Amino acid sequence: MLLGLGVVGGGVARALTEKAARCAQRAGVPLVLRRVLVRDLERPRLLTLPEGLLTDDAEEALATDCDIVVEVLGGEHPATEYIERSLAKGHRVVSANKEVMAKHGARLLSLASERGGEIFYEASVGGGIPIISPLKRDLSANEIGSLRAIINGTTNYILTVMSGGVDFASALRDAQQLGYAEPKPANDIDGHDAAYKLAILASLAFHTKLHPDDVYREGITRLTPRDFRYAAELGYAIKLLAIARRDGNAIEARVNPALVPQGELLAKVDGVLNAVQVEGDLAGRVLFQGAGAGALPTTSAILADVLDAAGSIAQGGRPSPWRYTSDIPVKPMSELVSRYYIRVEVADRPGVLAGIGKAFGDNGVSIASVIQKETDEKAQTAEIVIMTHAAREAAVQTSIQQVESLDVVRQVGNFLRVED
Ligand code: HSE
Repeated sequence: MLLGLGVVGGGVARALTEKAARCAQRAGVPLVLRRVLVRDLERPRLLTLPEGLLTDDAEEALATDCDIVVEVLGGEHPATEYIERSLAKGHRVVSANKEVMAKHGARLLSLASERGGEIFYEASVGGGIPIISPLKRDLSANEIGSLRAIINGTTNYILTVMSGGVDFASALRDAQQLGYAEPKPANDIDGHDAAYKLAILASLAFHTKLHPDDVYREGITRLTPRDFRYAAELGYAIKLLAIARRDGNAIEARVNPALVPQGELLAKVDGVLNAVQVEGDLAGRVLFQGAGAGALPTTSAILADVLDAAGSIAQGGRPSPWRYTSDIPVKPMSELVSRYYIRVEVADRPGVLAGIGKAFGDNGVSIASVIQKETDEKAQTAEIVIMTHAAREAAVQTSIQQVESLDVVRQVGNFLRVED
């Protein structure tokens, strides 16, 4: 049974009908689409499905006698409730819903194992990139040290355009015209989407229950073409990174724009592509890269889960439950240790650098380099770019506040963490 017939739902329905013979061969049982829940029965559709398959009555759809429920409605409600009701009946549920899995995944996984069902969610992160299954299975023997990812295609597209000298508003408009960014883009550009996906991945990587509210989040709206230019001169690209990293008995969990050395593979992931880099104690560094969204790549992930679910039903196997083995606290952001890039707009006068240097020095932050940029002799202003050595976030934030209060400083234009 299929809940939702939008772009992704349509792709799944098409594949299930057009590739029925191949699906049956791979699953070992025939797969028959019994019911499809849609919002509007009257809406014209390109896909012709057998008469009577569609319904706009959720109760009727949920009462369908079936083994597998595929949820592609998106959004938190009513998808969460529909998934819960299906799992309570012992069904296998396949979901592409990152918001539901990030916020309610732990509860849904435990409900599934209580009732003998299972929830599959490969499509919830990274579209067609296999990443949930590798974390659950292929890398399960590893102690994961870190996971660093570009998991929002819209923002990666915008940042790629900005790296060519375009300002944020124009790059966003471009992404909207191409259909990558929503008319209301906050979910992507403020980092919510990436935080949901990071919560899902980190929960698997560290066998812990990480809620998206515990992920520190910064979006991309503060970036300017100048940041990209200065970063490039220093040998870095700027990417919105989702990072989860083991640090002793805690984990770092954050989504923020970061300077990434140009030689790193993640720095070369451009446009709407996504990539996830996992570092395990046995496997070493592994990189997954590909299309993170779109009807066909998402259908690829959903259909694989459907085949998996059907195969396990055909074998009569009881699904093995997902086990959380630890409850790891998230390290407060103030304790993060990183290098920093700071861009400051100042009056071009004697003693400015001494004042700024003192603010950082007083807080124990060591400066690695200072470059003066964009001097405007007429206005007697200049822009300086500071790179620090590794320092504690709290000390850098205090230094920035003190720098901002200096009367020779017009403003701190931006500050970014460096992911060396
Ligand atoms: N809005 C998401 C992105 C796609 O831009 O990557 C769906 O997760």
